[in-house]
Amino acid sequence: MDQEKQAAFGSRLTEILNHGALNLALALGYQLKIFDVMADMDQPVSCPALARAAGLHPRYVKEWLGIMCTGQIIEIRNTGTEEAVYFLPPEHAALLTRQSGSSNMGVYTQEIPLLTQIAMARVTEDFSKGEGIPYDAYPRFQAFMAQLSHAKHRQVLIRHFLPGVDQGALVARMEQGIRVCDLGCGQGIGLHLMAEHFPASSFTGLDNDVPAIENALSRAAELGLKNITFLAKDAASVQDDPDFFQAYDYITAFDAIHDQSRPLEALKAVRHMLAPGGLFSMVDIDAASDPAGNLNHPMGPFLYTVSLMHCMPVGLSDRGMGLGMMWGRDRAVSLLKKAGFTRIQVLEIAHDPFNVHYLCRQ
Ligand SMILES: C[S@@+](CC[C@H](N)C(=O)[O-])C[C@H]1O[C@@H](n2cnc3c(N)ncnc32)[C@H](O)[C@@H]1O
Repeated sequence: MDQEKQAAFGSRLTEILNHGALNLALALGYQLKIFDVMADMDQPVSCPALARAAGLHPRYVKEWLGIMCTGQIIEIRNTGTEEAVYFLPPEHAALLTRQSGSSNMGVYTQEIPLLTQIAMARVTEDFSKGEGIPYDAYPRFQAFMAQLSHAKHRQVLIRHFLPGVDQGALVARMEQGIRVCDLGCGQGIGLHLMAEHFPASSFTGLDNDVPAIENALSRAAELGLKNITFLAKDAASVQDDPDFFQAYDYITAFDAIHDQSRPLEALKAVRHMLAPGGLFSMVDIDAASDPAGNLNHPMGPFLYTVSLMHCMPVGLSDRGMGLGMMWGRDRAVSLLKKAGFTRIQVLEIAHDPFNVHYLCRQ
């Protein structure tokens, strides 16, 4: 046995334990808005002053600060004679607060703790059964997804993504007025933004999660949007519904095909719904279809874990396909072709290195 290799792996495991613990503590700090409070203060602050400003108990904040400064997230300034003060460097705040927009990595720290809390027992049990887990076994998932979408779509969707589709021709059509559908829209964050920016177009959100659709509808009403509707529907069921035949000029699916039980039928539904000359943007995680191709993926273990804890089991449920989030480019293109798409472009997305855009023409 190679002793040096073992020692190096031991150090790596120590690092992993520390980083796993840090992820949990970062998630707590994000949820409790401590980073936001520190960023607003923008100066070194004592533990009692921080606890006061955040409305939290100082003993808990002190322990949390211990994690944050040993984990090099927050700097401690301790002269030895006075009470220690703590400082969140602006470079760190820029990636950890709600102001960070699409650079907000703080929101992602919540993902593994949340999935652990709501699905660990079910996932462990399902390792031997392989039956999958229904979407509704994940309470709070939609609310979390809405937070992610908000961070992502607010800066990227209108400003960078849509203007790049079809060399600007899509936005020109949306300004004039076309029919747009978002499949697997969740709480409708992307659609609300599009409907606000393109008042001449009409927008429909489809999702089979009834509470998410209700939430999307009430938010649209709050925003006073008249050009938007949301329907609670299983995407696969639309594939031969005459009411949806050629009903849309542009269809989007953000992160919403790989965790469906019947993704092929959902893609066939997209073809059924697209009008002649229509476009379909499927945006999904960029990965290789084989783990060997993902060895240098900067977030490989993170994304496979999210898939294991959520995307794959929900995709397996109801005797589903269980594609998982890391289904990758080859499987995605092959499924699009199987659904009947023949004109498929695989495009990088500006300002979004983790997703890839499959642009399909009817
Ligand atoms: C990962 S979430 C993405 C939500 C949203 N597109 C976003 O980017 O925030 C996947 C969405 O697909 C929806 N979904 C899953 N299976 C579906 C099905 N069979 N028909 C319609 N929607 C489905 C889920 O309810 C969920 O809202």
